Amino acid sequence: MVQLSERTYYVGVNDFDKVLFEGLWPLPYGVSYNSYIVADEKVALIDTVECGFEEEFLANVKEAIGERPIDYLVVNHMEPDHSSLIAYMLEKYPQMQIVANAKTVPMLKGYYGTPEDRITVIAEGGRISLGSCSLSFLMIPMVHWPETMVTWLTEEGTLFSGDAFGTFKAVDEDVVDNPDTFEEYRDEMIRYYSNIVGKYGNPVQTALKKLSGLDIKRICSTHGPVWQDCIPQVVALYDKMSRYEVERGVCIAYGSMYGNTAAAADALALELEARGIPYAIHDLACNNAGDLGVSGALRDVFKYDTIVAGSPTYNNGIFPPVETFMKALQARAVKGRRFYAFGSYTWSGSSVNQLNALAEAMGYEILGTGLSFPQAYTREKCDMAAIADLLA
Ligand SMILES: Cc1cc2nc3c(=O)[nH]c(=O)nc-3n(C[C@H](O)[C@H](O)[C@H](O)COP(=O)(O)O)c2cc1C
Ligand SMILES: [Fe+2]
Ligand SMILES: [Fe+2]
Repeated sequence: MVQLSERTYYVGVNDFDKVLFEGLWPLPYGVSYNSYIVADEKVALIDTVECGFEEEFLANVKEAIGERPIDYLVVNHMEPDHSSLIAYMLEKYPQMQIVANAKTVPMLKGYYGTPEDRITVIAEGGRISLGSCSLSFLMIPMVHWPETMVTWLTEEGTLFSGDAFGTFKAVDEDVVDNPDTFEEYRDEMIRYYSNIVGKYGNPVQTALKKLSGLDIKRICSTHGPVWQDCIPQVVALYDKMSRYEVERGVCIAYGSMYGNTAAAADALALELEARGIPYAIHDLACNNAGDLGVSGALRDVFKYDTIVAGSPTYNNGIFPPVETFMKALQARAVKGRRFYAFGSYTWSGSSVNQLNALAEAMGYEILGTGLSFPQAYTREKCDMAAIADLLA
């Protein structure tokens, strides 16, 4: 538990055990599920944490407010990483009312069988008074679920933003940021955004416009640090990512069964390095411990303007992990990128043409016909220096 101000407390938890967030995204530095309390004449709890942390969560709540009852549980977002202790908390706090918008109600019933008489429905601009302060609610649909809203504590300029402005990587004991925290979390924030929210650039832009009128002094999101010192950088990064804006640089994303496509990828990385071109390289099939695969490649696609996809020909098609990556780009409507494809084959190469066709359908600028080479990678077959020049 960390006290954030006279009235507000952090009561979230760190999860270092989960291997894949949403069953897909690796968590090398863990993740936090953040929950907050505003204790005034009345007490509001804002979101809960994932199941499995019942005792730790309840202990944090009690450390903040002792045996005081909780009057309201505000549900900003129904994804189970925040909602799965709702039923547990309703049982522990029998007078507590859930505060939620109309789209949330059927989800509450469907997931947790929440009885209607325990739910107070609020709408856009709705407000509940806690005594000397009040909470108001703004809908930010599709960031990244339809029922998503944020909660605004005017008296403290505090935005309880749900997943917006969230990031992977567990929080340290202080929870609150300092001027260096943004850089420390930057990569994990881009990875979180690109993996989870990336599809919803337009709704994020709409939300940012809506929130721009608020004089925000503190952002309490549901994952990662509480932002105070770094608010301008955090908001600017979300703005940039949701506009799909990137720097010149190369994300090499490849898959390989027997190392030939991988050798070409490594050789290209060396040539980019020699030219001082910013780049990242990802093994999409995660052959080595610590590889972030599609998750890491998506992060770097949201950083750099050039995608280089490498795939051997596999049953006359694209190697499945590389296909997954291409589908992930499609699903996120990643636009405005330059593209180059390469890969090894043995009897009849078709992966490179198929990759180019997918990229073309997404409107990418195809930088060349690509490099489809038979069997082993050799310098004679593969002029990676020429490709690096093309990508510069
Ligand atoms: C299951 C499987 C299916 C393959 N299908 C094709 C194919 O349809 N056409 C082809 O030319 N080579 C095919 N190959 C051969 C690979 O493309 C070739 O071994 C390539 O060098 C592998 O590159 P890598 O070392 O990067 O994995 C296949 C290999 C395997 C194991
Ligand atoms: Fe979520
Ligand atoms: Fe979340």
